[in-house]
Amino acid sequence: MIVLDKDTRVFTLHTQNTTYQMKADENRVLLHTYYGPRVGGGDLSYLIQYADRGFCPNPSELGRRRDYSLDALPQEYSTCGVGDFRLPSAQVEQPDGSRLLDLRYESCEARPGKYALEGLPAFHGAEGETLSVLLRDPSSSLEVELLYGVFEAYDLITRTVRIRNRGNRPVRLNQAASLCLDLPPAEMDLITFDGAHVRERWMNRAPLRPGVQGVGSTRGTSSHQHNPFVMLCGRDAGEDHGLCYGAALLYSGGFQAAAERSQFGDIRLVLGMQPQGFSWVLGPGECFTAPEAAMICSPNGFTSMTHQFHRAVRERLLRDPYAGKQRPVLVNNWEATYFDFDAEKLLEIAREAAPLGIRLLVMDDGWFGQRNDDFGGLGDWTVNRRKLPGGLEALAPRLRELGMQFGLWVEPEMVSEDSALYREHPEWAMRAPGRPGARGRSQLVLDLSRREVRDHLFNALRSVLDSAEIAYVKWDMNRSFTDIWSAALPPERQGETAHRYILGLYELLERLRQAYPELLVEGCSGGGGRFDLGMLYYTPQIWCSDNSDAIDRLRIQYGTSFCYPPVCVGAHVSASPNEQNGRVTPLETRGVVAMSGTFGYEMDLCRCTPEEREIIRRQTEDFHRYGELIRQGDYYRLSEPFQDPGYTAWAHVAPDRREALVSLVTGSTWAAQPFVTLKLKGLDPAAKYRINGGKTLWPGDALMYAGYPIPPMRGDYQSLQLHLEA
Ligand code: DGJ
Repeated sequence: MIVLDKDTRVFTLHTQNTTYQMKADENRVLLHTYYGPRVGGGDLSYLIQYADRGFCPNPSELGRRRDYSLDALPQEYSTCGVGDFRLPSAQVEQPDGSRLLDLRYESCEARPGKYALEGLPAFHGAEGETLSVLLRDPSSSLEVELLYGVFEAYDLITRTVRIRNRGNRPVRLNQAASLCLDLPPAEMDLITFDGAHVRERWMNRAPLRPGVQGVGSTRGTSSHQHNPFVMLCGRDAGEDHGLCYGAALLYSGGFQAAAERSQFGDIRLVLGMQPQGFSWVLGPGECFTAPEAAMICSPNGFTSMTHQFHRAVRERLLRDPYAGKQRPVLVNNWEATYFDFDAEKLLEIAREAAPLGIRLLVMDDGWFGQRNDDFGGLGDWTVNRRKLPGGLEALAPRLRELGMQFGLWVEPEMVSEDSALYREHPEWAMRAPGRPGARGRSQLVLDLSRREVRDHLFNALRSVLDSAEIAYVKWDMNRSFTDIWSAALPPERQGETAHRYILGLYELLERLRQAYPELLVEGCSGGGGRFDLGMLYYTPQIWCSDNSDAIDRLRIQYGTSFCYPPVCVGAHVSASPNEQNGRVTPLETRGVVAMSGTFGYEMDLCRCTPEEREIIRRQTEDFHRYGELIRQGDYYRLSEPFQDPGYTAWAHVAPDRREALVSLVTGSTWAAQPFVTLKLKGLDPAAKYRINGGKTLWPGDALMYAGYPIPPMRGDYQSLQLHLEA
């Protein structure tokens, strides 16, 4: 609910459990007054205190008043160069060369329905509401519109910013953050999700110290190294208690998430596109729209925040026909064959897969052009007839006869120098004139900011997709950006290239979606290098990591779970010893871990023993049985893998609490271990549950408050699943 008091100029956003408020004060400065547990309303600006603070400048219109400084007051959208020395939200270069921006309140409007964003990913839903607040720089022609979307039931507030040039000379925009959140002094922690290729989204929690700290990506992608989802929380906050804020950017390019603890202890979080290298020429009358950011505040710890993010993503970000829906259990040939396969090998795998309950065969990298290793071929999206003599049109029906759908891998954004496409269009690769250009995985990035490149890619994909019945595409992208430069832009606009690339990528993905509405597209970037809400708008699932080791995945999937629901998390069972780290794990454990995602196999099923096949058959059966619970249930983290309690446990609980699936995986074993009593969460305390179909009726309250005794397990990396039914 949005409440506007135009007399006091207090604007309040209420969600089910939270309240967010700002006030345009007597100086027309838009101050942030409150974000936290829901309160009745009224003017909360009494929380703001005024004092003469040394070396904090005062606006000149206030004459001799010294207790008013932009540097010491909570701002709704911070400016630059006119009195606030903390993190700016927008940075500009005015026509006179000054880098100054002063924003003052102009007007506001609340309206039913959530604002729409042209060409950018966004939460959607008829019940959303919009608040628009217009700010203007009194000394220049710049106008900033702050947009807020309110989804009450999800405690979700979305934000974005439109910056308009109302003057007749161009202005340069050097930063346009999507979210600025000023919080009062408090002892808080910043939580980020960081790592590397094959080690994505490890959770890191550290107290905020004075100054700026944060994460970001300058790689042109959201990156493996840091995720554009961050949290702020009280020092004492945990899964079930304490105040916490989660903020996510719906953007797949470079980003910056920075938190600053100021000289007076107050805290500012700024989240938006990466300013480094960014510069946008805003011509007269033009408007720049920043990507959307989403925030959820939970007064009761991390779990409730996670539940709200998961519901919002499933129901208000993903789009039909795949929003929260069942995806087919698949087998992917990458770790089974790498580049060394042909149609017969794929059919062999499919023949093994079909009776085991697997319904989709995904042909990974290497089916096209002269792609026999990762040194060439990218860009030539025509079938390699040596490997697939009859083409896709012959393979798909043969799979269909086996009861399998057909899917394939593409990496449209890239080009190999050893390819027909590059020989024909070397200028389509991003590379500045006179520079050799760095390679990544021996490939170059195609300039998706250019329409002709996008048109070419769309047509190339269309020929592939129209040539056979194709149900699924894995959209991969395997390098960080360097040498960002577009032949289509003049020198003064080169700072726009990286963002125009992302806009181009979104346009291409949207075009594909419109042309093939039933096609399931899985995002991928060397695993989870572009795992963000922006991509999820177009690709309802993303390959979580190139690390398919079940034990490493426990940490990766744990970190991923804070914002992203399991239905989006690409997870497969792969061979043991694991291809990435050589670890040996039981097949049962690999199944338990992959089941907490989209579920599938990434191994040569032809090499399985009859016993292994039987385990796989049971796993796919279990996944079909529990599928809805995993997709639609509330996710509970029951342990902290980074604390190494000797096991990792989690649960999916049905919204009506009548059913739950609890999973537990042990670490490497040692003798005389303490017994584990696992305290479950989210059950109905008054209900009685049967576990795995047993006769005993277990009271929900006892299972949660006293716990469930985990039977001792021998050996490393064991697992169990408890299926509870009330
Ligand atoms: C990186 C992906 O993450 C892998 O799963 C695989 O598709 C390779 N690329 C293929 O080159």
